[in-house]
Amino acid sequence: MYNSKISGLGFYLPDNIVTNNDLEKIMDTTDNWIKERTGIEERRWVKSDSEDTTSVMGFKAAKLAISDANLKNKDIDFIIFATLSPDYFFPGSGVMVQDMMDMSTIGSLDVRNQCSGFIYALSIADQYIKTGMYKNILVIGSETHSPGLDKTTRGRGVSVIFGDGAGAAVVSRELDKSKGILSTHLHSQGKYAKELSVISPGMGTRWVSDILKDNDPDDESYLPYMNGQFVFKNAIVRFSEVINEALQKNNLTKNDIKLLIPHQANLRISQFVQRSFKLHNNQIFNNISKYGNTTAASIPIALAEAYQANLINNGDIIILAAFGSGFTWGSALIKW
Ligand code: ACO
Repeated sequence: MYNSKISGLGFYLPDNIVTNNDLEKIMDTTDNWIKERTGIEERRWVKSDSEDTTSVMGFKAAKLAISDANLKNKDIDFIIFATLSPDYFFPGSGVMVQDMMDMSTIGSLDVRNQCSGFIYALSIADQYIKTGMYKNILVIGSETHSPGLDKTTRGRGVSVIFGDGAGAAVVSRELDKSKGILSTHLHSQGKYAKELSVISPGMGTRWVSDILKDNDPDDESYLPYMNGQFVFKNAIVRFSEVINEALQKNNLTKNDIKLLIPHQANLRISQFVQRSFKLHNNQIFNNISKYGNTTAASIPIALAEAYQANLINNGDIIILAAFGSGFTWGSALIKW
């Protein structure tokens, strides 16, 4: 058995910045409302004529992560791609990256676990590395939310929150058993699936062709739905639980945390978690003000930014934690 470590990180954001003031022009909202409720000041939305798609942005982030790990494409043994906004309903986005990278016929797996997607993907990579099956795994989180959002006043409760972007990590074999990903913790509660979802029943019961056939302007079933307050209440409980679970499993306390990187759901959620663990400002990393909520991409983008800002050093204890649609939630405790 081996340990696994994050050996390289990279992120990519589309260059089109959409500020809260820009949104004021297209829907009934205000900069103040958005900032007060979510902490978001701007987000990136791909332009409709851009080459950027979920897999293209994932590919761009992945190239940077592989280079940061001082590896070549041929060194990657497996790809795990987390997204809720794949280029196609099928096939998945992992195979697109395998092709764009001109990699040999290595396996590619897509993970559909929304905001917890990157933690789930990291946990899968960790298991494959631990058993010795693979040596270097590319783990990507990427989202193109903007084309699927309702950018009218009808959709303002959801659309102001989400942004586009991608982050990637290379997970590699670590021979020092005291270092690397020390534990991961995954949970789900499907009874709340509809509280944060695209509630269209999907293939098998009702498919896009039916929606198009209906051509009903009032049909909202293909738009994201979020029971915001219910999500908030569940998120703060589950974030705390799963961070505690990781600390307890490793016999650590909150004082040992060098940096907590929560999924960037909403600044208020992060601040609630910070208060409940009594963490100093320098023990938690937030960048939601710049990018909004990028779902599966938010943790790898934040991790890469924190790393590049020298906030993570050798021997530091880092906790990644996420909660989102499913509901699903999870954490990963890493000794850098
Ligand atoms: N601008 C202006 N007004 C708005 C907007 C907007 N963008 N969106 C909603 N409103 C209005 C509503 O219509 C409502 O008006 P009404 O009182 O006349 O009916 C009023 O604001 C209050 O709406 P609520 O939905 O009750 O607002 P709330 O205070 O709950 O804030 C929010 C909404 C920010 C979504 C909050 O519930 C929240 O933070 N939830 C957590 C969910 C979250 O963070 N999700 C992130 C994605 S999921 C994840 O990553 C885990």
